[in-house]
Amino acid sequence: MSIQQTLKKKIDEKRQGEILSPAKKKHLSKKMYIESYGCQMNFSDSEIVASILEKEGFSPTSDITKADLVFVNTCSIREKAENTVRKRLEFYNSIKKKKNQKMIVGVLGCMAERLKNKLLEQEKLVDIVIGPDAYRDLPKLVKEAEDGKKAVNVFLSLEETYADINPVRLNGNGVTAFVSITRGCDNMCTFCVVPYTRGRERSRDPKSIIQECQQLLKQGYKEVTLLGQNVDSYLWYGGGAKKDFIKASITAKESSVNFAQLLEKIAEINPELRVRFSTSNPQDMSLEVIQAIKKHPNICKYIHLPVQSGSSKILKLMNRGYNREQYLKLIDNIKKEIPECAISMDIITGFCNETQEDHKATLSLMDYVQYDYGYMFKYSERPNTIAQKKLTDNISEETKQKRLEEIIKKQSQHSLINMKKKIGKKYEVLVEGVSKRSSTHFYGRTTHNATVIFEKENVKIGEYVMVEILDCTSATLIGKIANNG
Ligand code: SAH
Ligand code: F3S
Repeated sequence: MSIQQTLKKKIDEKRQGEILSPAKKKHLSKKMYIESYGCQMNFSDSEIVASILEKEGFSPTSDITKADLVFVNTCSIREKAENTVRKRLEFYNSIKKKKNQKMIVGVLGCMAERLKNKLLEQEKLVDIVIGPDAYRDLPKLVKEAEDGKKAVNVFLSLEETYADINPVRLNGNGVTAFVSITRGCDNMCTFCVVPYTRGRERSRDPKSIIQECQQLLKQGYKEVTLLGQNVDSYLWYGGGAKKDFIKASITAKESSVNFAQLLEKIAEINPELRVRFSTSNPQDMSLEVIQAIKKHPNICKYIHLPVQSGSSKILKLMNRGYNREQYLKLIDNIKKEIPECAISMDIITGFCNETQEDHKATLSLMDYVQYDYGYMFKYSERPNTIAQKKLTDNISEETKQKRLEEIIKKQSQHSLINMKKKIGKKYEVLVEGVSKRSSTHFYGRTTHNATVIFEKENVKIGEYVMVEILDCTSATLIGKIANNG
């Protein structure tokens, strides 16, 4: 046999293997167990991972002892998040030893990207390490791991958006779904590890986003949450990193789509489909976006607008790109245009050089805005961030904790005030599922993202229903289905 013939035979065999493999793989029906930590984006990414692995013959299981493949999608945002993942890895390894020596353990996401080979070499708890932009390489890496090799891919891309991948909805309620629209972040907030673990910012083709939303609607979903680290910065100009937009052709620039335009396109799919989005960075939120929210009844009247600090000095050290006055101006604009709009925030306490005065500025900003909800954290220094390199983590743990408690206390007062204002009113609620506390009650959310619990009566999950609010706690509204709409 000539070299060419041998090569052809090899290629034919390989092709045949590929043709035969789906059936064979289906027959094998291996099990995957995926656990996700951190932001909503991670939960959404796990659905992309599940889709890629399903094609390889893996079906999801919620029983870890039955899994051939265990993946943990990880978060690096704070030290605590990483410690939680380390504990889980030890737990998976104990199961591996006791129950299934062949079980493959993989680390996905931000910790994979941050720690790379260290996870394989030093910690010896994992077989596969794969960063957020490399999931298409999973079939190859799983094969390598099955062959007993340690497999790693932490390549960060300027283009990858997984636009064509149809996510497998994991642990969903069949009513609400995440749809990712941008990946990565270019903002370089000095405290944040995300630009290093998720790479440069890029946007997904609006056609594929709209298709995914239409498909969800067909399957009975009634709400989509558009996801990105900084959704307001969305810009589609044919693909590629946002930083390269400047080099795009005039035609590409002219036909580009920004976030406000995308939001409107999605809202126009169907008035029955609610639209939410997260996260908005204050420096990128335009008046056009506020107008789009105002114009479309199905765009939820709720904006998550992380402030991080109420002190302009601290905001500058954080490189947030806005100061206290600019942030408050944005809040005023939102409240002027959409008076009933709910607003939530993220705040970090005890960032480098934060004085008592800076802390008081945060408290007074909270008093001004009266946020509906809040997510509050103690500053956690992350390796290799600008803050770690250029600033000193000089606020004691005790002070960070004390300030955090003050902020949490104030926020729960504000949440309660805002919830109480809703008593006696009627709201349209999307029924999402059975209440965890009571099997005779449903839970759902108002446009403002307030959770409402109410007796089931004769409505179904996935329906919109008018609910009259009777009572509340700082986190939940309690209501009853209103008879006369
Ligand atoms: N893209 C979002 C935030 C992503 S991270 C934005 O524009 O704000 C989610 C939240 O985690 C941040 O808003 C911040 O409040 C918090 N966070 C990020 N890095 C942190 C750190 N090093 N220590 C404590 N909290 C942090
Ligand atoms: Fe992080 Fe700031 Fe981007 S908080 S995700 S660098 S907007």
